[in-house]
Amino acid sequence: MNENIKILTEIAYMISAATFIFGLKMMSKPTTAIKGNIISACGMALAIGVTLLNPIVKTYEWIIIGGLIGTIAGSIAALKVPMTSMPGFVAFFNGTGGLASMLVGWSDFHVNYTRSGYGGYNLENIVLILATYLAMLIGGVTFSGSMIAYAKLEEKMTGKPILFKGQQVVNAIVLGLGILIGIIFFANPNGSIVYPAIILLMILANILGILVTIPIGGADMPVVICLLNSYSGMAACASGFVLNNTVLIVAGALVGASGIILTAIMCKAMNRSLANVLFSGFGSAEGKISTSAHGEVRALTPEDAYYVLEAARSVVFVPGYGMAVAQAQHVVKELADILEKNGADVKFAIHPVAGRMPGHMNVLLAEANVPYDKLLEMDDVNPIIDTVDVCIVVGANDVVNPAAREDPNSSIYGMPIINVDYAKTCLVLKRSLASGFSGVDNPLFFKENTRMIFGDAKQTLTGIINQFKDAME
Ligand code: TAP
Repeated sequence: MNENIKILTEIAYMISAATFIFGLKMMSKPTTAIKGNIISACGMALAIGVTLLNPIVKTYEWIIIGGLIGTIAGSIAALKVPMTSMPGFVAFFNGTGGLASMLVGWSDFHVNYTRSGYGGYNLENIVLILATYLAMLIGGVTFSGSMIAYAKLEEKMTGKPILFKGQQVVNAIVLGLGILIGIIFFANPNGSIVYPAIILLMILANILGILVTIPIGGADMPVVICLLNSYSGMAACASGFVLNNTVLIVAGALVGASGIILTAIMCKAMNRSLANVLFSGFGSAEGKISTSAHGEVRALTPEDAYYVLEAARSVVFVPGYGMAVAQAQHVVKELADILEKNGADVKFAIHPVAGRMPGHMNVLLAEANVPYDKLLEMDDVNPIIDTVDVCIVVGANDVVNPAAREDPNSSIYGMPIINVDYAKTCLVLKRSLASGFSGVDNPLFFKENTRMIFGDAKQTLTGIINQFKDAME
């Protein structure tokens, strides 16, 4: 390649990498997220454009056809897929990234093995062999694991953990064989058994992806998808080394690092280890009715709740998974508007793992046009929660369970929660005293300042709104 073009290409790649970093930073706040996304997309367009000018690209027909198919498929998916199905589609896209990395590894191996052969053990060749191997191994695991995650989330297969006897042993054997092939490849990259061994490696990687994803319960899938997202970044980074492409190395490393950080944040917010998420089959006790109920339950009707809310000067809504089930976000917004008109200060407190996917509550509230500046994070609301007149818990359970703070024997002890029980009054909207995702009893239902309003959250809120409307007439 002409030296000047080479320098310009590297400069363009650096600019692209910088837009990815700034874009990611901007995506951490709802107000700047859209701009961050556009900036990163422009950086990606620049990187693709510059790569296509590379003299090793001889013909453009297939690239144009592939680009068109990708653009049409991506645009249709972005427009049609509902926000609630995003984790499944993120899994699907991660999977295609993994597949691409695996194929890049295979194609580069094929060229080297069948044409020139791998040279001696200098640094460049060692990196190439290692990167080729990792792109195929991690890419294959990412592809099949992501497709299983997609199938589970989109209910194309059972969302329950699939467990069998000796599962860990089988996983260890498959991984061990994969490592053995790596050693064979490294020891003699041009050996006669290497090509069939590499084909076997890709098959084993895909089997491993399936084996490590099937034992995970559907509700834990968002955590696993973040992990697979991280793997797809690592596989892309490895294929960047294979192709000697700086921007792919940087972009892959960014995806790999951000995926693992998000995985860690989610595990921390659930107070669970990654091993517990991956191997425990957690969540199977969801919906259990408490057998060790303690204390008196004080139930209200929507009519009674109206009187409580009519007098409230500050109200905080705390949504959870039940709001998504009831699709109550629009009535939540309607009641919030009425309460504001009535003179109350209204806010929404969002727990990082409320619902079943990262940002689940943010997405639903955004759909109902709740302004971003009304959303408070757990760490911002907890210090002021004792000044709040009424907390309205809309279908949340685990994320407001005081047992996490008070009961060292509870399996969720230590999980950070929104301390709704510290508010002056707490209205809990749910259908029964059943447990949430973790299967743990909730002493909140029996606290003196708690009032349960049993029923579907949407119907309950509509009932309260109707009381306000009647009173206004
Ligand atoms: P949960 O603890 O799962 O509780 C949801 C509650 O909603 C249930 O107890 C249910 O009680 C109620 N509900 C269901 N349908 C309803 C309806 N139509 N109307 C009113 N209430 C309804 O939810 P949460 O508090 O949001 O906690 C989330 C849980 O998921 C945590 O344990 C978290 O660790 C886990 N998790 C989250 C994520 C992410 S990323 N968000 C990922 C993996 C796991 P009734 O049946 O009595 O109505």
